[in-house]
Amino acid sequence: PPLSEILNLHDFEAIARQVMTEKAWAYYSSAADDEITIRENHAAYHRIWFRPRILRNVTNVDWSTRILGQPSKLPIYITATALGKLGHPDGELNLTRAAGKHGVIQMIPTLASCSFDELVDAAVPGQSQFLQLYVNSDRAITQKFVQHAEKRGIKGLFITVDAPQLGRREKDMRMKFEAEDPAEVTDNKVADRVDRSQGAARAISSFIDTGLDWEDIPWFKSITKMPIILKGVQCWEDALLAYDAGLAGVVLSNHGGRQLEFSRSGIETLVEVVANLKEKRGLTFPNEKFQLFVDGGVRRATDVLKAIALGATAVGVGRPFLYAFSAYGQDGVERALQIFNDEFEMNMRLLGARTISEIVPEMVDASSIHQH
Ligand code: FNR
Repeated sequence: PPLSEILNLHDFEAIARQVMTEKAWAYYSSAADDEITIRENHAAYHRIWFRPRILRNVTNVDWSTRILGQPSKLPIYITATALGKLGHPDGELNLTRAAGKHGVIQMIPTLASCSFDELVDAAVPGQSQFLQLYVNSDRAITQKFVQHAEKRGIKGLFITVDAPQLGRREKDMRMKFEAEDPAEVTDNKVADRVDRSQGAARAISSFIDTGLDWEDIPWFKSITKMPIILKGVQCWEDALLAYDAGLAGVVLSNHGGRQLEFSRSGIETLVEVVANLKEKRGLTFPNEKFQLFVDGGVRRATDVLKAIALGATAVGVGRPFLYAFSAYGQDGVERALQIFNDEFEMNMRLLGARTISEIVPEMVDASSIHQH
């Protein structure tokens, strides 16, 4: 169907499933074990309800914001997802170009199919990019990569901490990752050891350091001035450790349900993180000094509005953009961003919030989410 008939982000998934190769569909759509967590990531948003305000002159509404100090036209960023060329020959470039046109921030994955420099070179003047880091057991490789990224103007370093070993994604494991097609393999020379027998995910991930520890954090801070954020925090205790370690923030995420099965959704974790950091460190959110992000299962502007009301600075969106470019290339990603813009305009009016800062905790009822 033509892009004009795509009305929401779910539509992209249904179409992508029909047009993608079996291998790409398996890698993008798969999640851990019985795929309970991936389902809950989305379902958790259905347990939070709005308490809208009325009569507020919502003629003009503005949903632009700042993420780690960088301007963004949406309170959304394109999160890191590996192996873009499995879905489309231009791979992650589809995301970079669409992000540049729409004024949003892309997080470049360590395991991009395009080279890191290609993705930075494709950015337009003023376009901000973040980097997702998988830490190599050879720290010299990681140090070089991080310092190169900083030199190239990357504005935030997101260290993935929920994947010391890749989760068991059985759909993907049933596909032998042979990589006869070099386009599918990452060009970033960080993945040195490759085991091709068990699906794309495991084939590309064997370099990741299982020994990563809180004691490594000062080293990361010593090699870069970029703000450092931990991606994959799943309880308030670790968010508190990240804050005390002097980091710039955390992404409350279970990696799109691809890692530990039965880890809770980011939106549920957000509730306990906000409550406990307030109680134990006196913090209020959103907070410029320590920013909270959420990802997993976000498919509508209403999902994003709930996360912001509960204290998130912004949310990450993954699979919908993958499905969008797999089916329609860059145009698909642009359409997805346009859909978010349209949904924001309408839903901010209906919620009675004219700016992001007017989206407050009182606007949601999250009482069904259990606090720890
Ligand atoms: C991911 N994700 C991910 N995260 C990361 O830190 N490094 C990576 O290389 C990848 N790769 C990756 C590939 C694919 C195909 C998917 C679907 C996801 C996780 C990603 O950043 C994010 O946490 C989730 O995708 C968010 O959930 P949704 O939006 O996909 O539901």
